[in-house]
Amino acid sequence: MMKAKMTIAKEFKVGKIDNRIYGSFIEHLGRAVYGGIYDPTHPLADEQGFRTDVIDLVKELNVPIVRYPGGNFVSGYNWEDGIGPVQNRPKRLDLAWGTTEPNYVGLNEFMSWCKKANSDCMMAVNLGTRGAEEARNIVEYTNHKGGTYWSDLRKSHGVAEPWNVKLWCLGNEMDGRWQMGAKTASDYGKLANEASKMMKWTDDTIETVLCGSSSRQSPTFGQWEETALDIAYDSVDYVSLHQYYGNQANDTPSFLAKTLELEEFIYSVICVCDYVKAKKRTKKTVNLSFDEWNVWYHSNDVPYERWSYAPPRLEDIYNFEDALLVGSMMITLLRHCDRIKIACLAQLVNVIAPIFTEDGGRVFKQTIFYPFEHMSNFGRGYALNPIIDCPKYDCREFTDVPYLEAIATMSEDEQSVVIFCVNKSQDESAVLEVNLMDFDGFKPIEFISMDGCSKDDVNGFDSEAVCPHTNPLPTVDGSTLTAELKPFSWNVIRLSK
Ligand code: AHR
Repeated sequence: MMKAKMTIAKEFKVGKIDNRIYGSFIEHLGRAVYGGIYDPTHPLADEQGFRTDVIDLVKELNVPIVRYPGGNFVSGYNWEDGIGPVQNRPKRLDLAWGTTEPNYVGLNEFMSWCKKANSDCMMAVNLGTRGAEEARNIVEYTNHKGGTYWSDLRKSHGVAEPWNVKLWCLGNEMDGRWQMGAKTASDYGKLANEASKMMKWTDDTIETVLCGSSSRQSPTFGQWEETALDIAYDSVDYVSLHQYYGNQANDTPSFLAKTLELEEFIYSVICVCDYVKAKKRTKKTVNLSFDEWNVWYHSNDVPYERWSYAPPRLEDIYNFEDALLVGSMMITLLRHCDRIKIACLAQLVNVIAPIFTEDGGRVFKQTIFYPFEHMSNFGRGYALNPIIDCPKYDCREFTDVPYLEAIATMSEDEQSVVIFCVNKSQDESAVLEVNLMDFDGFKPIEFISMDGCSKDDVNGFDSEAVCPHTNPLPTVDGSTLTAELKPFSWNVIRLSK
């Protein structure tokens, strides 16, 4: 059994956690919208055709913001196709995913869904096949009170009050060769700058997100951010990061160590933002929007029928080790919550998602549902970066990987503290001693964990092999809390004053 020590203190604040770090993503892709959130013939569909059982699960995840409508899809999307009477809406070929888009769900329907799910929308505009004009028009349609062409058109569509969408993505992965209308960094920087200016002139309360590279592996990573930011710095608020991981090599120690690379990625983007800031001698700071992150690889080779309507696509069935990496990735994001203000688990329903539906039927919680649910519900307030002393391991891709990955959070009223911790060892428990420092007197009130599963265990409609359970409370002696973290486990220790 390994021994580990942790120290937590109020003074170890990374920063205030922006709730939008617990965001997610719905794209017009596969069965995310059609068959996922929207299924009008489902027995549990509401009057707008939205599945209420899915909405209930989204509420359990407590998702404050949902990015929409893409993703790669947005780079060929005419947002006007999705407004007005549904029977008049065109059916279009979606070149991003090779399917047919019927436009049954568009802007107003999705905004209603967000309200029902207690979420706000993070809207993306098409800067692939379209430009600044269409971008400012959608802001006017969505956010302007009335008395102009686009705002009155919205009213004529039965939406009297503006939706007041505050956060807008300036395109999606514009560096990717798979993207419709992919661009060079300087072409994109110029377009994003003009679009953002005009969108903000239309509504000066909005914030915008500049596309960073589509991943750290992108050949132009670093240079892309620097060039685009150099052009658009003054008119944008965030730069985006996207990253997915997979265990294609069936090498669990390396897979779970991917957070070291993630850490490096985040740090590099902060450096580029601050380098451009320094060059410009400005006091404005551009922060990070990690608006696509997850595990994605299980479904990569599944065939589908081209131009069909809502075929299953990217339907990863997540196993237990995926849940451990997702928990570890969220911990890593929180360690940088002073700069990462927005993050979106990609995606939310069916498409690489924590919620999985059967067309017309049942729904189940994937393994990754739980770490997200725990952190989103309990991990609000401030992030505290604990000092951790624990054994490390070497693996094929990394050296000196700490077996434990952890973060602590403290509620805004400072009355409760939560420790989130992954034990990455496949065979050893850890006896964790936590020095509570100025949380002396706080008592454990709940110890939740997911453990005892094999790494390949998955959930399904009929079985839930991977789900959390509560444990006997950790002991406290003076200001030292002691807990046993089982091998290969996700752990949540909640303390209260
Ligand atoms: O989330 C799936 C896809 O991954 C998105 O459409 C795209 O932005 C990314 O490449």
